[in-house]
Amino acid sequence: MPDRAAPAGSPRWLPAGRLEALDARPILPVLVEGRPLILVRDGGRIFAAERACPHEGADLARGRCSEGRLLCPHHLAWFRLEDGAVSPGWSFRPLRTYPVRTLGGVIEVDLGRAGSAP
Ligand code: FES
Repeated sequence: MPDRAAPAGSPRWLPAGRLEALDARPILPVLVEGRPLILVRDGGRIFAAERACPHEGADLARGRCSEGRLLCPHHLAWFRLEDGAVSPGWSFRPLRTYPVRTLGGVIEVDLGRAGSAP
């Protein structure tokens, strides 16, 4: 039987890291299927997003997070972790975010459903 890809928009949960890894570093760079992402712990919540800033590609793993927002270290735009929305005054696209779940201490990311436009 041929191996067929899942339809666009279908869930595709993949392991991205261990929950305890976020204890030492609240913004953790990871590779999931070769895609550079960040896992972010903000309070009791965990988020996943693309690692490169959609403005000029700065490394968001070197940013800061606070109160549900992620700060780009280069030009200091903010992104809302919930949906990737960029702070007012910027005209580039939102940050691509991904659904997250944890199973037995493993953080999984759904690569099938990014939270903003490609
Ligand atoms: S590179 Fe992130 S705001 Fe410019």
